[in-house]
Amino acid sequence: MSFEVKAVGLDFGTTNSAISVVGADGAPRLARFPHAEGGAATETFRSILFFETRDEIGGAASAVSVGNDAIRRYLAASGNGRLVQSLKSFLADKTFDSTDIMGENYTLGDLIAPIISALRDAAIAQFGELPPRIVVGRPVHFASMGAADEALARSRLDIAVRRAGWTEVEFEYEPVGAAYDYALRIARDELVLIADFGGGTSDFSLLQLRPRSAAKHGAVRYEILGNDGVGIAGDAFDGRIMRHLVAPALGRGTKYRSPYGMVLPAPTWPYTRLERWHYLSFLKARATMLRFEELKRQSLEPDKIGALIHVVENDLGYFLFRAVEQSKLELSDAESAIFNFVDAPVEIEAIVGRAEFEAWIDRYLAQIAGCVDRLMLTAGLEARSIDSVFLTGGSSFVPAVRRIFVERFGADRIRMGDEFTSVARGLALRALDGAA
Ligand SMILES: Nc1ncnc2c1ncn2[C@@H]1O[C@H](COP(=O)(O)OP(=O)(O)OP(=O)(O)O)[C@@H](O)[C@H]1O
Ligand SMILES: [Mg+2]
Repeated sequence: MSFEVKAVGLDFGTTNSAISVVGADGAPRLARFPHAEGGAATETFRSILFFETRDEIGGAASAVSVGNDAIRRYLAASGNGRLVQSLKSFLADKTFDSTDIMGENYTLGDLIAPIISALRDAAIAQFGELPPRIVVGRPVHFASMGAADEALARSRLDIAVRRAGWTEVEFEYEPVGAAYDYALRIARDELVLIADFGGGTSDFSLLQLRPRSAAKHGAVRYEILGNDGVGIAGDAFDGRIMRHLVAPALGRGTKYRSPYGMVLPAPTWPYTRLERWHYLSFLKARATMLRFEELKRQSLEPDKIGALIHVVENDLGYFLFRAVEQSKLELSDAESAIFNFVDAPVEIEAIVGRAEFEAWIDRYLAQIAGCVDRLMLTAGLEARSIDSVFLTGGSSFVPAVRRIFVERFGADRIRMGDEFTSVARGLALRALDGAA
C-alpha cells in the first residue's frame, strides 16, 4: 500500500464523530468503523462510552468501551454499567471537574481521549501512518448549561487530542470545515452561508468561497465574513420531546404530601436533568436514588415516581432517548410519529404530530433564527446577496430548521449534503492547506 497521508481532520461531535485524511490526490477519505449490530461499516463513530461493572469483568479496573462497541456491550450487559454520551456538552462547563464512575475518578480528558484514540486507531489501520499534525473542529461557541468557559473547553479538547497521540493540534470552526467540503462542489466564486446543525450546537459561517478545483494547493480559497453559533441543536429538540411526552409519565407535574401534611408539586430538577442526556447519565448516584425513594413514599401518584426510579436505576436512558430520537427522525419525513417505550412497569405510547413537535421546539427555532439574523446584520449583508446556503449536520433534516432558511433565502438557494461527514472531510482539506 503506497498511500501517504498528507493531512488529517477530526470532527469530534456531540453525537457522532468522524476522521478524514487527504493524500497526494487532494481527495478527502473517511475512516470506516464496523457496525455495532453487524450491519455495514459506517463513516461516523458514535461519541459514546460504556463502563462495565467490575464483577462482570472479573475484578479488574472497570473496562471502558467506545463508539459502536460501547453500544454493543451496553446492550449485552442488560443495565449493568454506565453509558455516557454527549460529552462534548460538558467541555465548557466549569462545574464539571471530574466525575465518579463506579468508584473511580475521571476527568473530561479521561473520558474523551478513548473516543479520539479509537478514531485514530481506525484511521491508522485503514490508511497507515498519520502525520503528527491535525486540524480539529470546534463549535463557534461551545454549548453549556451555565456560563460557558470557551478557553477551558478548548484546552480540554486539546488535552484529549494530544493524549490520543497528536503533537500538533490546530482548531478550526466546524462550519468553516464544512465550507471546505462545499467548495469541492461549486463551479464559480460564491458568497455562501454555511449552517451546521448537530447534536449540541448550531454553527454558522459566512464566507466568500472559491471553487476548490480552481485554486492551487496552498492558495487562500476563502475569506471569512463572520461566524456565530448557539448551543441549541438536536439534543435540545430531544429534550422537548422528553419534557412533553415522557416526563409526565415519570411523575413530572404530580404532587406529593410533605411530612407536615402539605400537598406540594413534585420537584422539577429530576425532569430538567432527564431532558439532557449528559445529565441523565449522571443521575444514578446513591444520594439521588434515596431522594427518589422518599419522594415515591410521599407521592400521590407513586407509580409514576416508581417509573422514574426504574428508568434511572436500570440505566434505561439510552433506550428512552433512542425512542425519543426515533420519533424525531420520523417527524422529519412524516406528519406524525408513534412514540413507543415499554419496559415494565414503564409503558408510554403516544402519537406526536409534526405541528405539535414544532410548537415544543418553537423557542429554540426562534433562537436559531435570531442567531442567523444577527450574523447577517453584523456582517452587513442582505439576504439577497447570498449565492447559496449550505445546510449540513444531522439536525438540518428537521423541516422547521430548513424552513428558517427557505423563508430568508428562498428554496432555490438551499443546498444540502454530506450531512454527517462534511465537517470532517473539510477539516482534512483545511489541514492540507495549512501543511508545510
Ligand atoms: N433525519 C433526522 N431528523 C432530525 N434529526 C436528525 C436526523 N438525523 C439525525 N438527526 C439528529 O442530528 C444530530 C446529530 O447530528 P450530527 O452528527 O451532525 O451532530 P454532531 O456533529 O455529533 O454534533 P455537534 O456538531 O453539535 O457537536 C442528533 O441530534 C440526531 O438526533
Ligand atoms: Mg457536528
